[in-house]
Amino acid sequence: MTVAVELPKLQKLSDQELMAWTPKEFVEKIIGKSEMFAEIFFHKEHWETFELDEQTRKDNLVEFCARLAWREFYNGVHPPSKQIVMLEKNPEDIGIRIRLAQQIIDEVQHQRTWGRWCKHYGGSPRLQDYDVSPEVIKQFQLTNDYDDPAEIAVNLQLTGEPILVYLFGFGTLKPDESITYSLLPTELLKDIEKSVVADEPRHIAVGKEIMKKYCGDAKKRRNILELQCTRLENTIKIMMKDLELLGAKRVGQLPII
Ligand SMILES: [Fe+2]
Ligand SMILES: [Fe+2]
Repeated sequence: MTVAVELPKLQKLSDQELMAWTPKEFVEKIIGKSEMFAEIFFHKEHWETFELDEQTRKDNLVEFCARLAWREFYNGVHPPSKQIVMLEKNPEDIGIRIRLAQQIIDEVQHQRTWGRWCKHYGGSPRLQDYDVSPEVIKQFQLTNDYDDPAEIAVNLQLTGEPILVYLFGFGTLKPDESITYSLLPTELLKDIEKSVVADEPRHIAVGKEIMKKYCGDAKKRRNILELQCTRLENTIKIMMKDLELLGAKRVGQLPII
């Protein structure tokens, strides 16, 4: 059993401390927390793998890919569409809105990529055939149910997307440190690296722009940091299930959010 690592409790800082950061520094703190979470969560030393028979492995891969297809479409398309509408009143945000439109195109492609892999392992490529589990629906609500573009950005572009690449074996961990890199089939990993992971930096970049501009006063910043904590708690539930489908069980402590 490894020792639990506590993530920085940014949401507990005073108004003065929160406002001492420039908007750029505030964004760096958010992304830094997401990466720290992912490095602890996905490090191999906290997991134990178990054998799956051939049929179960295929069935689980179908479910893994279907869960991802659903998340790419619902989390990737709906929330940026809302951000575009929210930013419409400000004409100087046209550049951000165009980049969000590109993100929507990318995410539809990502959903199709995962749908193809679902079919490859014997499942249906159609989203409507997938029976969505409660924690996945909750993640969509946690990403989408806001009236402010920064509240969506913290959930999607600054927390969800930086962490997601670790689930596919990438990010700042080395391949031999990542639990998922060793569990995902090589053919799948290679395709996901170029069809999905390669697009993420531009999505994260547009989220940074939104946050820098709309992070607001201390009260708003603290609320944004609290939203990140809620999102991370639900991410644990979703990704524990993702890892279980791949054949891994958590043996180390979870990061303390
Ligand atoms: Fe995506
Ligand atoms: Fe993305």
